[in-house]
Order: sequence, then C-alpha cells, then structure tokens
Amino acid sequence: MRLYQGIDLLEIDRLKAAYDRQEAFGLNIYTEAELAYCNARPDPYPHLAGRFAAKEACLKAFGVGMGGFGATGRFREVEVESTPSGKPVLLLHGSLEKMARRLKIGQMTVSISHADNYAVASVMFLGEGTAEEGAAGEGETGETGE
Ligand SMILES: CC(C)(COP(=O)(O)OP(=O)(O)OC[C@H]1O[C@@H](n2cnc3c(N)ncnc32)[C@H](O)[C@@H]1OP(=O)(O)O)[C@@H](O)C(=O)NCCC(=O)NCCS
Repeated sequence: MRLYQGIDLLEIDRLKAAYDRQEAFGLNIYTEAELAYCNARPDPYPHLAGRFAAKEACLKAFGVGMGGFGATGRFREVEVESTPSGKPVLLLHGSLEKMARRLKIGQMTVSISHADNYAVASVMFLGEGTAEEGAAGEGETGETGE
C-alpha cells in the first residue's frame, strides 16, 4: 500500500482579495456546489479559503504542483463536498480522477479547519502502489493537460 499526503495553509484575507477582485477567480476555482455551500454561510470567506487549501493539499498529495496544472481550470477537478453532518468529502474529476484510477487510489480523506485569518486543509490518499514506484507527479504533468 502507498500513502499520499498533502497539506496547505492559507491566509483568508489573501483569498478574499483575489476572490473579490474578479468574478472569474471564483468561477475558475470552485464548482457550483462549492460556491453554493460557501455563499450560504454568514461569512463565506473562511469556507472558500478552506476549500482552496483543500485543493492545493490535494495537488500536493498527488505530487503535482500548480506548475503542472496551469493557472486556471484544474482546481475545479478537485471538489469538496459537504455531507449533512458537515464532514467534508473529496471528489475528483477529469484528469485527476484518471490519475487516481491509474494509481489505484482506494481511499481519500480531507480535513479542513479555519480560525482567525487562517484556513488549513490536509488530504490523504491510500493507494495500492508502493513507495518505491515513485511520486505521482514525477514526469507526469502532461497527463493533466488533457
Ligand atoms: C465539527 C467540529 C469539530 C468543527 O470544529 P470547529 O472548531 O467548529 O471548526 P473548524 O474551523 O476547526 O472546522 C470547520 C470545518 O470542519 C469540518 N467539519 C464540519 N463538521 C465535520 C464533521 N462532522 N466531521 C469532520 N469534519 C467536519 C468542515 O470542513 C468545516 O469547514 P467547512 O464548513 O468550511 O467545510 C465542531 O463543529 C463540532 O461539532 N464539535 C463537536 C464538539 C463541540 O461542539 N464542541 C464544542 C465545545 S466548546
């Protein structure tokens, strides 16, 4: 078995500034369901920042950074769904879902927290491969461009 892990910490003010500056930012980063969840909260920004952190943490878990994903679009391939209890669940779409299938990732977890001006998220995957098989993103960033 192979364990994949990623973590990201974000300043909520910086996310808010980027989000408020241009509508396209939100539309490029978040799915409609994510925007609906966050915008239904009294203060959407901690929730938006937590989801942004979760997306970055997911890319880190795969071993591919922003460089392999381009500036836009790919963030929407990582979706945080909230269950009725509030527990977040990770959904993958497009090229990332393909990558997860190829790596035989069977379990994924995400955890989010926010306080004051910070949001943090941690992502873990459990796959069938071995650590010796190399990082998911090494030399494979082309796959994300499909
Ligand atoms: C779930 C709980 C632990 C969240 O902790 P919190 O300190 O309130 O808030 P945090 O900022 O750390 O975390 C918020 C995130 O927790 C996650 N979360 C919410 N409910 C969750 C659950 N049932 N399981 C796992 N994660 C959960 C969500 O991702 C949420 O962020 P989001 O709404 O943007 O998706 C908390 O609300 C809770 O229910 N605690 C139970 C005990 C309690 O009420 N203690 C109060 C003593 S003063």
